[in-house]
Amino acid sequence: MAGEDVRERVSQAYAEALRRSQEEPAATACCAPVDGGTEPAGVAAKCADYSAELDAHAEAGKSSFGCGNPLAMAGVKAGETVLDLGSGAGFDLLIAADLVGPGGRVIGVDMTDAMIEAARASAAKAGYDNVEVRKGIIEELPVEDASVDHVISNCVVNLSPEKQRVFAEIQRVLKPGGRFSIFDIVAEDLPQALLDHPAAYSACVAGAIPQNDYLAGLRAAGLTDVEVAERLEYDALQLKGMIGSDLEWAGEDPSALDAALEGLAGRVASVRFVGGK
Ligand SMILES: C[S@@+](CC[C@H](N)C(=O)[O-])C[C@H]1O[C@@H](n2cnc3c(N)ncnc32)[C@H](O)[C@@H]1O
Repeated sequence: MAGEDVRERVSQAYAEALRRSQEEPAATACCAPVDGGTEPAGVAAKCADYSAELDAHAEAGKSSFGCGNPLAMAGVKAGETVLDLGSGAGFDLLIAADLVGPGGRVIGVDMTDAMIEAARASAAKAGYDNVEVRKGIIEELPVEDASVDHVISNCVVNLSPEKQRVFAEIQRVLKPGGRFSIFDIVAEDLPQALLDHPAAYSACVAGAIPQNDYLAGLRAAGLTDVEVAERLEYDALQLKGMIGSDLEWAGEDPSALDAALEGLAGRVASVRFVGGK
């Protein structure tokens, strides 16, 4: 499938996921509730280690689709510029705005109109006039060369059909001395049946690449000091929460899904990649 077609399908899936999250919070997420969605609002974000940030931005946290907290320990300082690739409904944008303060700047880029509108509304509601959300694709960022101090991203690059273009764009937009902190899903040796399932791509699984390929791609783009800062391996129950709700065959034969997910335990992980330019 061509890159444009993949992006179109992913965008439709996330417009729908946002709508569902507003009706039934965290119904679909890269880091979803493990109990099938019966927990109250914000469970995806809690799972992603956001407890303190949720106190400050509970409403935006209900539509968080991340798989970690890329801003924790990213070293963002007051006055800096932060760029979020695939900013979604804007939860991380608000957290970044808290860190950079009124003298700093936060830019989000996303391709899905509904997400962009939600993020702009969240920033306006929170009273942040230094948060800007731009429409665009992360493979061709609408951002000037060497203009940002920190690139962050939360569970997005796995969805790109052209990951090396994304890595090159991170290198292009970072200032010399700038840093990146990216949380994303990585996966090894996924069964073909899962890779072929139409819903598995937008569930952040089928497009995920092995950790070593990710590291190699970042380095090949010219980024420096590239390493894994954190790694959380999913067990079968967590995987069920993450992809079960998106995979229709779960409803058809839940026990078959359980068996498949047992086999995947430890082969799918959420990883924070860090490095600089
Ligand atoms: C799993 S959600 C994560 C959203 C947000 N980072 C968060 O933590 O809640 C993926 C987001 O990335 C966006 N996205 C996916 N692929 C993209 C691409 N190639 N270019 C721009 N945005 C993309 C989707 O529209 C969606 O908002």
